[in-house]
Amino acid sequence: MSHIGNYEETYAKFTWRDAEREIGYEPGDPINIGAWCTDRICAQGKGRKTALVWEGHDGTRKQYTFDDMRLRTNTIAAFLRSHGIEPGERVCLFMDKIPELYFGFLGVLKTGAIVQPLFSAFGSESLLTRLADAGTSAIFTQKKHLAKVRAIVDQLPSLRLIIVVDDDGSKPLRERETAFDMDGSPQVEHFDVHPTTAESPSVLHYTSGTTGKPKGAQHVHYSLISQYITAKYVLDLHEDDIYWCTADPGWVTGTSYGIIGPWANGVTQCVTDAGFKADNWYGFIERMRVTVWYSAPTAIRGLMKEGLDVVRKYDLSSLRHLCSVGEPLNAEAVLWSKEAFGKMFHDTFWQTETGCIVISNYPGMPIKPGSMGKPFPGITAAVLDPSTYEPIAVKGEVGLIAIRPPWPSMFRTYWKNEETYKAKFRNGWYICGDRASIDEDGYFWFIGRDDDVINTAGHLVGPFEIESALLEHPAVAESAAVGKPDPVNMEVVKAFIALKPGYTPSKTLELEIMNFIRKKLSPLAMPQEVEFVPSLPRTRSGKIMRRLLRAREWGEEIGDTSTLEND
Ligand code: PRX
Repeated sequence: MSHIGNYEETYAKFTWRDAEREIGYEPGDPINIGAWCTDRICAQGKGRKTALVWEGHDGTRKQYTFDDMRLRTNTIAAFLRSHGIEPGERVCLFMDKIPELYFGFLGVLKTGAIVQPLFSAFGSESLLTRLADAGTSAIFTQKKHLAKVRAIVDQLPSLRLIIVVDDDGSKPLRERETAFDMDGSPQVEHFDVHPTTAESPSVLHYTSGTTGKPKGAQHVHYSLISQYITAKYVLDLHEDDIYWCTADPGWVTGTSYGIIGPWANGVTQCVTDAGFKADNWYGFIERMRVTVWYSAPTAIRGLMKEGLDVVRKYDLSSLRHLCSVGEPLNAEAVLWSKEAFGKMFHDTFWQTETGCIVISNYPGMPIKPGSMGKPFPGITAAVLDPSTYEPIAVKGEVGLIAIRPPWPSMFRTYWKNEETYKAKFRNGWYICGDRASIDEDGYFWFIGRDDDVINTAGHLVGPFEIESALLEHPAVAESAAVGKPDPVNMEVVKAFIALKPGYTPSKTLELEIMNFIRKKLSPLAMPQEVEFVPSLPRTRSGKIMRRLLRAREWGEEIGDTSTLEND
């Protein structure tokens, strides 16, 4: 029996207060995500239940109960406090998907500090931008990533503590660096959790927009209410489930549904640090007896490419419920999953800013393959006319996806950027920046983004960040980065580049530029293709017309080019 029951009935009667009561929260009381995912579950008598089964890429396995997790998070929190980290300071996690990342997240929150998870594949420049913006005080990292931190530390005066979680003493640590051994340290039985309340800042997730540098979406401890109930209703988490979220906690899916939602429900999670390959993944599901699986369209398309024969080599009969997020889930992928696993993937739609799933397909509700489903109970969603910001009444007409504030996990601001935050609200609605239509049965159908942000493999990459980094290459005079269609990743980055005098286009230069971006920013931001052009199309006011370049890549109508200067 699904938790949500009949969708329409639950939607009609649900209030957030119901979710507050369920989780034992009374308005005005302290609430702390770190404690509620660990101490609270132990207090319910589930201390000996497995919280995390972790498998490294070399097959190493580590297993932790909820009580182990309570102790580890206490130990991390006490360590930070003893090093003078105060509530409200930013503490970054810059690690692979190792247990320290998961427990570090909750440990930081127990101290009242703000946790800032960053993708470990980020290069120094991506890291610098985000640490400088947040004025981060401490960073947890591994030996393998330390060089990237050392490369920028001189530019980060507020970064006073660099914590290496796997130091083996083989190389001397430098000033500001300190070693911390999570499993080997004496475990702290009692930690006075900072009495954060609903509006205390919790998580700072950086996300890319069209213009400017990445912005820090600031969440609060009250987000727990949404994350708990959506994990329960959408992911349909039950007491004996073994849940696997494939997302990295450097991105919001990996925290809202890879840490907070499932553990607030007291559910066992498993994590693999192994790379993507059908054999790895199916083997993991078989070994762990995964029952609920939350993944992404790019991964599903990747699995489709490897075919059904490999599916049949494994016993995947434990799978009960499948969900997907991050990009449009095409109907073919939904139908293929039915054939491959006997279950359809349920598409879910949300964003870093929404903090929780806002539109989704629910267990028990008929799936229309290709549709994102319907608003979560407690969420009012609409598509708006882009000129009036009024809901569109006509079924099937395309408009802007919008959510009516507030809801518990709505972001509360962009870090030190209130102006951009305010600009996301119009006519009493939060504007997601995506386009969709609603059909006669109330199902939402995704059309596309309403800006120039590139969605590659479910990860948003800002064109501005890539273009700024490209300008640092000696050969580049000007550039534009756009999304180009890709059969597996949906989009990949393509860069149009005009060279400085004295440089000539060549394959070697193309590869050099690609690598330059991979190292500086990340493998995701690396252009998969470079096209050298004499100049870039601009508007009369001098703005590069990315949209025109993008439309060409997608074979779309170019539309009105009258404002172009040199096309
Ligand atoms: O464009 C939409 C796309 O991903 C964006 C949000 O990205 P991010 O903040 O990184 O969060 C990703 C995971 C929650 C959205 O504005 N997106 C997300 N889910 C879907 C989607 N596009 C289509 N269908 C989805 N289900």
